[in-house]
Amino acid sequence: MKTVLVTGGCGFIGSNFVRLLSADTDWRVINFDKLTYAGNLENVADLYHERIRFVQGDICDRALVERILKEEKPWAVVNFAAESHVDRSILDALPFLQTNIGGVQSLLEAVRKYPVDRFLHISTDEVYGDKEGKEPSTEESSLSPSSPYAATKAAADLLCLSYRRTYGLPIIVTRSSNNYGPYQFPEKLIPLLIRNGLNELELPVYGDGKQIRDWLFVEDNCRAILGVLEKGKVGSIYNIGTSEERTNLDVVHGICAAIALRQGAESEKLEARIRFVTDRPGHDRRYALDTTKVRTEIGWKPRAVFVTGLKQTVDWYLDHSEWISRVTSGEYRKYYDSVYAQAWGTT
Ligand code: NAD
Ligand code: DAU
Repeated sequence: MKTVLVTGGCGFIGSNFVRLLSADTDWRVINFDKLTYAGNLENVADLYHERIRFVQGDICDRALVERILKEEKPWAVVNFAAESHVDRSILDALPFLQTNIGGVQSLLEAVRKYPVDRFLHISTDEVYGDKEGKEPSTEESSLSPSSPYAATKAAADLLCLSYRRTYGLPIIVTRSSNNYGPYQFPEKLIPLLIRNGLNELELPVYGDGKQIRDWLFVEDNCRAILGVLEKGKVGSIYNIGTSEERTNLDVVHGICAAIALRQGAESEKLEARIRFVTDRPGHDRRYALDTTKVRTEIGWKPRAVFVTGLKQTVDWYLDHSEWISRVTSGEYRKYYDSVYAQAWGTT
């Protein structure tokens, strides 16, 4: 039986990935997570059985990572652990440098000491930067990150690839587009708007709302990651996305329609709460990926249709209102006010 060390397995994509491994493989999973504001044991609480071990820890803690590698001898490491929210990186970049760069270097060094067959690093389309008026990014496109978050992810990608070339580590990198689905923390566009929609709050749209993203259902991304882990070529990068482009306003209207449908209400009432607010500094207008490689080499393609995936997501949040209340207690209010009430704190 294979053992896989999954870091950040209590966050949004990581918990969906642990769920997929639990359902579709007989592998042992070591879920290594610091449990930051974005990590929640409740996201995987139903999965705990003899094949899954949880370790609370920081990927920057090399001694602990080494101890787990020595004890468990995993064949692969899949690194989801990160500070993942662009807006928080604008308010304070330091935790992003610490986890997204320092933490990755700590993992790489630990793996040099206790080798694995595969080190899959989870990255993002944001490393390519703003693609407005440009061709979609291939895996060979140049990196041009705009936000502090994206800059730390680009740095981590380069660090991983340098450890491939210099030390021969079995690095693979995936770069996906925007994920949506169950268990996403309500600071990101889709869950934040669903939460606000359900709580009679305003629906904040940055700038003119015409920015373009490629929305990927989280289960599709997790299937792609599993495919790359099993079949991907060591030393390779794989873009993952649907190649369907939508403006943020299209998404907001879709959310209003999905909530209205579920509640038997009129979507006009929700739409009346849309507010155009101060734009995110440095906001990228468009991301666009060329995903030929993952489709041809791995044989992956997305299954979810956006309208259906969005409906499923809205249903999940409506059925988990207590989860939303729990994760938005505490420091969430302070964060929310920094962005939405004070318009980016003092910036
Ligand atoms: P998330 O913020 O929901 O979860 C991050 C998880 O990492 C949390 O469980 C958190 O506790 C854990 N973590 C943070 N710092 C840690 C540390 N120092 N040590 C151990 N654990 C730590 O993030 P997500 O949206 O699930 O993203 C997962 C990965 O996918 C990230 O690397 C992100 O950059 C990348 N990604 C995300 C998206 C997206 O749309 N969400 C798209 C492309 C790539
Ligand atoms: O593209 C992949 C990236 O997608 C990941 O690397 C990041 O971890 C993930 O957070 C996500 O980044 P984005 O910045 O694209 O996602 P977010 O949900 O924050 O915003 C999506 C779009 O919606 C973006 O153009 C900003 C806009 N937005 C966001 C929020 C939170 C709004 O208009 N209003 C909002 O309140």
